[in-house]
Amino acid sequence: MANNTKIISTYKKKLKILKQHNKYYFIEDRPRITDAEYDLLKNEILQLEKNYAYLSDFGSIKQLVGSPLTNKFKKIKHLSPMLSLSNAFNKEDMQDFLKKIKNYLNSKHENFELFAEPKIDGISATLIYKNGKLVSGLSRGDGLVGEDILLNLETIKAIPKILKGKDIPNLLEIRCEIFISKKDFLKIKNNFANPRNAAGGSLRQKDPSETRKIPLKYFAYGFGAVEPMIFLKQSDFLKQINEWGFSTNQLSKTLEGIDDIENQHKFIDSTRSTLDYDIDGLVFKINDLKLQRRLGNTSNSPRWAIAYKFSAEKAVTKINNISIQVGRTGAITPVAKVEPVNVGGVIVSNATLHNEDEILRKDIRIGDTIQIQRAGDVIPQVVSVDISKRNKKSKKFIFPVKCLCGAPTKKEFSKSTKKQDAVRRCTRGYDCKFIAKEKLKHIVSKEALNIDGFGKKVVDQFWELKLIKEPSDIFKLDYDKIKSLEGWGNLSIDNLKKAIKKSKLINLDRFIYSLGIRHIGQENAKTLAAFFISITKFSDLFDSQARRKILEYLLELDGIGETQVESIKNYFFNEKNNKITKNYISKLEIKDFIIKNKNGRLANKKIMFTGGFKNMSRSEAKSIAENNGGKVLGSVSKKLDFLVAGDSKPTKKKLDQARNLKIKIISEKEWNKILNS
Ligand code: IVH
Repeated sequence: MANNTKIISTYKKKLKILKQHNKYYFIEDRPRITDAEYDLLKNEILQLEKNYAYLSDFGSIKQLVGSPLTNKFKKIKHLSPMLSLSNAFNKEDMQDFLKKIKNYLNSKHENFELFAEPKIDGISATLIYKNGKLVSGLSRGDGLVGEDILLNLETIKAIPKILKGKDIPNLLEIRCEIFISKKDFLKIKNNFANPRNAAGGSLRQKDPSETRKIPLKYFAYGFGAVEPMIFLKQSDFLKQINEWGFSTNQLSKTLEGIDDIENQHKFIDSTRSTLDYDIDGLVFKINDLKLQRRLGNTSNSPRWAIAYKFSAEKAVTKINNISIQVGRTGAITPVAKVEPVNVGGVIVSNATLHNEDEILRKDIRIGDTIQIQRAGDVIPQVVSVDISKRNKKSKKFIFPVKCLCGAPTKKEFSKSTKKQDAVRRCTRGYDCKFIAKEKLKHIVSKEALNIDGFGKKVVDQFWELKLIKEPSDIFKLDYDKIKSLEGWGNLSIDNLKKAIKKSKLINLDRFIYSLGIRHIGQENAKTLAAFFISITKFSDLFDSQARRKILEYLLELDGIGETQVESIKNYFFNEKNNKITKNYISKLEIKDFIIKNKNGRLANKKIMFTGGFKNMSRSEAKSIAENNGGKVLGSVSKKLDFLVAGDSKPTKKKLDQARNLKIKIISEKEWNKILNS
């Protein structure tokens, strides 16, 4: 009997460990043991089950979706990047979306035909068909490079392997969302946090026969590469591919204008609970594909589509304390530490209070009962305070004027808005250790060095142990010390080493973005990279004399104004920033910026625009010029090759300056001719 007890407890322990490793692999996507170690554990459990039938009372390995673990899928570059979507949370955000499109296209109206589709909460994949035959299937990966999961995707019955029908393009890339139905999820829910994770876990099985065991479904929602391109509208495209055998969502609809948008959003939200799959909003897309092409993309998302999320989940809780957080740009953000509360399935214990003015306006105090909301991935916010529940003795919250590092903070004066900033900032850069830690989080993030497995929590962990203080430390980690830490095994260390090594080779624009200079986001980083071209030229910024000249030049770049120049100046004025940045550079291999379309019809031409055009906005003109190899400047100087003067109100001063410097002036008509030539 005593022996039985021991066997049962060993069995339960091993099963628990296996479950934990499934979680590391499937949910956290960070395996901590090797395939071989996992197999060994699995076999030990199987052996016990075989030898001691009574163990079936205490569980079964069959309940666990266990299978050889791997993340060794072949990596394949996408034919065209898989972007993400920007989000809207309310009517104003949607009005803003329409207005931006109207401005970009320089249109007189904003009643564009839209196509509204449910946003399926699953895992995206792309399917490539050559001459009607499925030849490749990839996961999204980082958007540029995906993983070859064809064998797993092929187990999904509803995905056509051979297309039947007329006019099928020779090359057809279909973007789709893979999901597990709510009903099917119920059967396996012990192993996964939610249906989305279950679908992800199943898709990433090394052994396709394991994928086959979990019934996956999909909806096709878009296309990547298509040759020849035969589609004219998103709605036609979906109708056509449905005829060729793809599953498409039947709740999609064409509509127009903000009222239709609101109605459809409300309608689908109200039917949401009756659907057998999870959706988290609606995707609104410009239906006309020609307009989609004109609108193009920003760094991460198309201008022609937006995800309108369903309304935020709300909950009531109490403020236990108010503390402050220091961001990577030095911004001091007050944070309410609240009594932990479940908001739409996530336990929340922090909520942002934005800034000092917000606390004053809402008169938020410690001890208050508040309503908080959580929408999408954004940090939970305080919606309102229930004054009736306030303790009479409570006192107004006095906002601290010092940073956590002890230094005084400043509210800056914005030159563009001519107003004092609402946010207080610590201005010490890397001299403030709180800022330094946040900068490191930015540097390892997806858009910067993109180090797999090096998330914010890892930065916190390594920072506490003084393993990293500045960016260059990332490249000389003490792995022996890491090995002794909880949660770090040989496999995870190996993966980390590989990911760090890979991140060393980086494009100049990504590098500039990674520095986290205030006001230098991804777009501005690209503009700067196109100006500097190489890290050698960029490094001239370290020299105070050279810097003065460069900053003057930078002002001429379109998109770079006084605010940005001031911010770059401040960054490099700080000696500690400079030293740390130099150390960081010494660890990297930074690739020169490659100008798009070197052979384009505007290759190497420096262009400036003045006045409005009939058929396009300034932004579109700029983007066309850049796509054709041109460089767009923001002021008239000798360097300019030509000034394009739109018919509507060109600035006289600019025209005069150009004439004085004998710079060629091109009319709107001539500009259109160049584009159509
Ligand atoms: S269109 C350029 N349509 O949402 C990106 N995406 O947050 C175009 N998704 O990666 C995406 N349903 O995985 C689009 N009807 C739908 C979608 C959808 C789900 C996913 C997709 C995408 C993510 C973006």
